[in-house]
Amino acid sequence: MAILGKLDSANLNGGQKLAVKYFTVALVLFGAQILFGLLAGIQYLKPDFLFGILDFSVNRMVHINALVVWLLFGFIGSVYWMLEDESGIPVVGLGLGNLIFWIFTLAVAAVVVVYLLIQVGPGEHSTIWLVNEGREYIEAPRWADIGIVVCVLAFFYNVAATFAKGRYTGVGGVLVLDLIALFGLYLAGMFYTPNVSVDQYWWWWVIHLWVEATWEVLVGCLMAYGLMLTLGVRRKIVETWLYVEVALMFGSGILGLGHHYFWIGTPEYWFTIGGFFSALEPIPLVAMVVHSVFDAGAHKMKNTNHPALAWIIAHAFGNFFGAGVWGFMHTLPQINLYTHGTQWTASHGHLAFFGAYATLVIAFFYIALQKWRGNVWMSGGIAGAWRWKWAMILLNLGMVGMVMAMLISGYEQSQIERAIEGSTWMGYFTAQAHPWFVQGMWWRQVFGWMFAAGFVLLAWDLLTIGGREKRPALQHAELATA
Ligand code: HEM
Ligand code: HEM
Ligand SMILES: [Fe+2]
Repeated sequence: MAILGKLDSANLNGGQKLAVKYFTVALVLFGAQILFGLLAGIQYLKPDFLFGILDFSVNRMVHINALVVWLLFGFIGSVYWMLEDESGIPVVGLGLGNLIFWIFTLAVAAVVVVYLLIQVGPGEHSTIWLVNEGREYIEAPRWADIGIVVCVLAFFYNVAATFAKGRYTGVGGVLVLDLIALFGLYLAGMFYTPNVSVDQYWWWWVIHLWVEATWEVLVGCLMAYGLMLTLGVRRKIVETWLYVEVALMFGSGILGLGHHYFWIGTPEYWFTIGGFFSALEPIPLVAMVVHSVFDAGAHKMKNTNHPALAWIIAHAFGNFFGAGVWGFMHTLPQINLYTHGTQWTASHGHLAFFGAYATLVIAFFYIALQKWRGNVWMSGGIAGAWRWKWAMILLNLGMVGMVMAMLISGYEQSQIERAIEGSTWMGYFTAQAHPWFVQGMWWRQVFGWMFAAGFVLLAWDLLTIGGREKRPALQHAELATA
């Protein structure tokens, strides 16, 4: 046990003590996400596996709901982490924040237990309230929806009141405005309409306007803070970049929503709007890469936290490739006609969620651990550095491998099911049975195990890193956040 070393909460401010609770739950849910992804992946290869016990529909649902929730926990934790640094005062309403943390966590646990216990049943009105709302990614039943709204309102109060009482930095201002939009949009996914087109129309407001607008702005704020902290970049520089990125992001991402309106029964003008604006979406992501690489170069890579900076850079590239390049590939309606809903989509979904969001939350895990250990040295020559490096290699290689495997399967589906067979029912099965599809699904599983191994190593590293470190953290003379 000695290797674990000592974690001392006395090193943390109030907001940060709460943040590490959120981070702990986030890490556990990340593990659960991977487990259920592996089960769902096995069922692609062996459809009988756990059939009637733990169905594919349930595994898939737990996999992607856990994803959304662990990222939300990671984001909330990251905001609490930086809140006192940014605002210059202790968090307002911290007691409420702590209470809400427990309510939120218990509610998530209850929802998952119900998912697992009630896997099939009639779709009645009570089902929406008690079991499952049936909207992909945010399937939580209505009681939990309302609970989530209450929890995030309390969180929003903590953040806004703290900045209002302390000081409003540029990062703080963007963050508060963004959180209003982010949580406001959740409401769009709560109202039931019996018309599937109308239902999807509003549901996309949550999913798309989260990941391609409000979440992007949120991670922009987190990245700004992370760059100031690890590299000591001047505030003026990161905030200027942030404003540019936010303007470009909203300018393209909001109407880019149209790329989900191609085939759900909405008017035809969405082809033009969706195609045009979503094609512009990679631009802010390029800006984010340039921003982080430029800053790192300008500081000659000298930084206070190697693993955190490495993950921040992974985030900049992951966001650009996963969202920007992989998104752009299928965003024009002429192409999407063939690729829609194939493994091509899943390939993009994986690389984008991992590259843009998982990476940055992991960077914050490392930022938190450094201070939790007493603000110890985490620059070159960390004891046991092989662990964070190998975790990073396995997670990234595992993800890229899965993404390429799915892309090949998706290509095959687009070609055989759509182009050759003309999207017929028969064409669907012909494509599913084709060796290229099946092999892609096998490789997805193989790389999935690699990814899982990377996660185990990451968890081990997070438990041990800095445990025996005595040297104080490197100081930037010009550390802008000081
Ligand atoms: C980090 C940001 C992003 C994330 C996390 C993300 C994630 C996803 C996910 C999970 C889906 C599948 C949704 C479903 O279940 O049907 C999807 C679909 C899609 N995404 Fe993204 N995405 C991001 C950014 C982008 C960008 C920037 C573009 C365009 C340049 C884009 C274009 C598309 C398109 C066209 C679809 C529809 C695919 C289909 O028709 O099946 N995405 N995205
Ligand atoms: C061990 C690793 C993983 C495996 C084996 C795995 C497997 C799967 C499977 C089988 C599905 C269902 C696909 C379908 O319905 O056709 C899925 C969906 C999804 N997974 Fe994973 N997954 C893994 C890790 C991850 C990670 C790390 C992320 C994000 C950070 C992620 C994000 C998603 C998303 C967004 C979807 C929905 C995609 C869509 O609707 O197009 N997965 N995954
Ligand atoms: Fe989208």
